[in-house]
Amino acid sequence: MEALGDITDAPLWILATLAGVLVFAASAIAYGFHPIARWRLRKLPGPSPAWYSGNLPELLSKGSAVVYTEWGQKYGKVYKYFSGAQPVVVINDAEMARLVSLRLSTRHEFRGPGSLFTGKEAEFNKVGLFSTNNKDFHRSMKSAWLPVFNSASLEISSKEMNIGANRMAAILTNKAKEQGELNIWRQFGHLTMDVVGSAAFGVELRTQDAERGLNSEEAEKLVWAAQTIFATGSEKASIYTYPGAVLPILNPLMRLLAYYFPDDGIKRAINARNILRSTVSKLTKESRRQQEAGVSKALAAPAVNIEAHATDARKKARGVQPGSFLSLMISSKHQDGRGVSDDEATSQAFTFLLAGYETTASALAFTVYCLSKCPEKMEKLLQEVDNLGGSDREVGPADLARMPYLEACLKEAMRLYPPGVFTMRQPQTEDFTVKGYTIPKGTWIHMPIFTLQRSEEYYGKPQEFIPERWIEGSPEEAALNKKVPGSWMAFGEGTRVCVGQRFALQEAKITLARLYQRFTFRLSPGQEDEAGLQLQSFFTLGPKEGIFVTPVLRTEE
Ligand code: HEM
Repeated sequence: MEALGDITDAPLWILATLAGVLVFAASAIAYGFHPIARWRLRKLPGPSPAWYSGNLPELLSKGSAVVYTEWGQKYGKVYKYFSGAQPVVVINDAEMARLVSLRLSTRHEFRGPGSLFTGKEAEFNKVGLFSTNNKDFHRSMKSAWLPVFNSASLEISSKEMNIGANRMAAILTNKAKEQGELNIWRQFGHLTMDVVGSAAFGVELRTQDAERGLNSEEAEKLVWAAQTIFATGSEKASIYTYPGAVLPILNPLMRLLAYYFPDDGIKRAINARNILRSTVSKLTKESRRQQEAGVSKALAAPAVNIEAHATDARKKARGVQPGSFLSLMISSKHQDGRGVSDDEATSQAFTFLLAGYETTASALAFTVYCLSKCPEKMEKLLQEVDNLGGSDREVGPADLARMPYLEACLKEAMRLYPPGVFTMRQPQTEDFTVKGYTIPKGTWIHMPIFTLQRSEEYYGKPQEFIPERWIEGSPEEAALNKKVPGSWMAFGEGTRVCVGQRFALQEAKITLARLYQRFTFRLSPGQEDEAGLQLQSFFTLGPKEGIFVTPVLRTEE
């Protein structure tokens, strides 16, 4: 009673301060349980979130592929979890995932170091085709991209893809002769970087071999930068990303700290972006200069004129060549007639490089991995490849149309190992309803491609590599597949579907056909079991260190 007497005797301002502190502490404690979001999503099951950090620690330590699969088994088709303070709804049902992808066209941004950038860098981030959420701008930009992936342009790219595969074959031949192993995942990374270099920028990077190209120094840096941007994409990349994820109110402070006292993660991310941006921006300016000087006047109607540009000229000459993505992009116009600005073009080329490099390399490496574990499937593929003709024969788009088993192998490998683990959408202006579920605006929605594509419900024997399930009319197709739309979504769906799909598939098929003309691959010990690959996943999926094989020449050379 005496103590109470002391308190009531205290001056009012002290009591008010005390009450304020108590209310603040109580709110801070309550906030960490995410009461509002939990209440709004109360009907959905999901793992219990830890105070403040939610389920982020588990997600980051196990990786999205593993954790979404485990949670899917426990919580079913639609469940929620908390990525720090952020509520996420996972749609673990193929038909619903497809519906969401078709009906929603906005994405949330990743919370890696990139989300802490300010000023021009932040603006630059927003105009890339992947990251933009402005619907009109997106529509306009996507149509500016499309000429690069039309049949005429792909015919030209097919030549460069053959060259890339030839260069890789030369390296593999040396390895085969010394019976040495190599990391085929990394090697494919060099190949896809070379192909992006010629298709996107019209420059010869030659990252693959010892005989360096004209831009070899830049090429080395580009490879490092592209790898680093992927490696620093998640919340664990920097000490400044995690606090903002659990308490978004801290983000402005984190931005300031990251700006003035960058840690290693921020420094690496900035450095990588600077390298990519300055290289691409230099090429954009060069391309613009050439265009103004009249070199690429003929590009006013890209879809037609792209055919006119000799691939040889594009390969040999220094600098940006006419017919490349970049030169087409800077001569493109928005739907309102406005020209594409240098910054916009640079951002698209940057996106091309990032989106087209590691994804295709992983698709290639996992296909070789699956085939190396299944000799009888590989034999079938070799027969199809040999039916094309000699081992030196170039492979073009018309040949690919006659190679259904190759396509089936690639599709099946991308089912088991989708390079993108999930796609995401975010209703940004209003709540979104799908099949009776109402998802509050601002919630992240994830469609777990990896989990859906390995689901027992849609695929019989889901863990097995059975390319035949993709061959029309085969017994395996009838027995093993339900073919539910949305159960194979390696390139996403809807208006935000992968724009580079045709390009990537052509590149992967040509490369595989050209390599299997001359080689088979023996998997190095310890990787037969998938656990040996130590799969790492955040947004993309890859082996921790790589995939190691010894190439074996099919005939003596
Ligand atoms: C095997 C290779 C590839 C895979 C597995 C892949 C996968 C994906 C996925 C899953 C998405 C998200 C789709 C969605 O949200 O619905 C996407 C978007 C995108 N991809 Fe790819 N991709 C590949 C290759 C490429 C290539 C080679 C390029 C560039 C030439 C590219 C450029 C893009 C772009 C720009 C977007 C954003 C499209 C938009 O938002 O409208 N991708 N990709």
